[in-house]
Amino acid sequence: MEKLKNLDKIVMLCKNRGIIFPGSEIYGGMGNTWDYGPVGVELKNNIKRAWWKRFVQESPTTYGVDAAILMNSRVWDASGHTASFSDPKMDCKNCKTRHRADNLISAHSKGKENPDAMSNEEMEAYIQAHHVCCPNCGKCDWTPIRQFNLMFETSRGVTDGDTNKIYLRPETAQGEFVNFLNIQRSMRAKVPFGIAQVGKAFRNEITPGNFIFRTIEFEQMEHQQFCKEGDDHKFYEEYKQKAFNFLLDLGIKKENLRFKDHDKLAHYAKAACDIQYNYPIGWDELNGIHNRSNYDLSRHQEYSGKSMEYTDPYTNEKYIPNVVEYSIGADRLTLVVLCDAYDEETLENGETRVVMHFHPAIAPFKVAILPLQKNLSEKAKEVYSSLSKDFMCDYDEAGSIGKRYRRQDEIGTPFCVTIDFDTLENDTVTIRYRDTMKQERIAIEKLAEFIKEKIKF
Ligand code: GAP
Repeated sequence: MEKLKNLDKIVMLCKNRGIIFPGSEIYGGMGNTWDYGPVGVELKNNIKRAWWKRFVQESPTTYGVDAAILMNSRVWDASGHTASFSDPKMDCKNCKTRHRADNLISAHSKGKENPDAMSNEEMEAYIQAHHVCCPNCGKCDWTPIRQFNLMFETSRGVTDGDTNKIYLRPETAQGEFVNFLNIQRSMRAKVPFGIAQVGKAFRNEITPGNFIFRTIEFEQMEHQQFCKEGDDHKFYEEYKQKAFNFLLDLGIKKENLRFKDHDKLAHYAKAACDIQYNYPIGWDELNGIHNRSNYDLSRHQEYSGKSMEYTDPYTNEKYIPNVVEYSIGADRLTLVVLCDAYDEETLENGETRVVMHFHPAIAPFKVAILPLQKNLSEKAKEVYSSLSKDFMCDYDEAGSIGKRYRRQDEIGTPFCVTIDFDTLENDTVTIRYRDTMKQERIAIEKLAEFIKEKIKF
């Protein structure tokens, strides 16, 4: 209960401090959509940048791509999404609301039952036997389960109809698979190598979103490792570890993370697991790692008619590479970062300080420039304009210095720089640390180097 209260507090803080707002709010909102404000967009961009740095910039054998969101609809036939990217849905005959059968069972059994391991018939039987009722109206009168495809459809060109039907991509991964040959040839890449992408994906989710945990429009950060069969297990283990270490390095507490193997594997998959996080709503998925055999490239070969074979330059052996996929939602990770960083401290004077302990590398603002009084603003703006060439800086001259510090604590700014009358005399400032609230004096000319050192990732 206490933890759920924290999620409400985080949602409020996000709204009040320009981190995340409800989508289309002045029109009454739109379910499962959220807008990132001036502070939140910095946080999410920094998270995406940290991921790209770790998985593309620092990997000599990974290539980045930014593929189109709208793809030839045959892509989704090949990937299996048109046929089976669906959730088991039931309608309440009384109030006409639609629900996911697996979620109804999880909620009713308080997570003790595992609907992922059940067939539709078994789920229907469970719901009937345990009188699982509609969370909206309380009646137990359900339609049979139907599979509901999660892809958003749209149409291309002037005439409507099935031939013009296209989809908003439900995952970024296919943009990596369809560019396998382009990237291999243009970059003279040798298997094993990786292709990574960060971009939007869309799913027609009807389940309540729990803030940005589940949204209908979200960003994914995905990495496909192409390798020879036999090496796939090694890469699967390697990416499990890399994915976990990335989270630890971002400052996520180890006790809030765990691996969870999938109970049901797709017929082509050799292994699959999630890293779960202990959210205020309980343990749930943060990211997935998947050993997918050569299913993806084989299917694209079959549907496109283009050979996806790779020829080993040393042995001349020809084969369709296997894929180990690592996929994490940028918004899901932003939620994890927010939950993990949120803290309420009781100060010596009895007041409560809300503070976001973000890793400095992903903090929205690295430094806030605060003139002690308004008549020091000229000097403060000088400092701001010099530091803002290197870092996102905030500038605030309104209100008491104590309140300004609190505001920066709430958006996780790791350093506050106060300009006072001594600054005019000797070009030094006070730097205040967010986490310890300690303060020390530092020369203005040393500030940039000092901050650069502290925000390394
Ligand atoms: N290509 C594999 C794939 O898309 P997934 O488990 O469906 O796998 C990967 O999605 C990640 O994307 C999830 O672990 C989660 O972090 C994020 N994600 C999926 N659906 C989401 C949604 N509706 N809202 C926010 N993030 C989502």
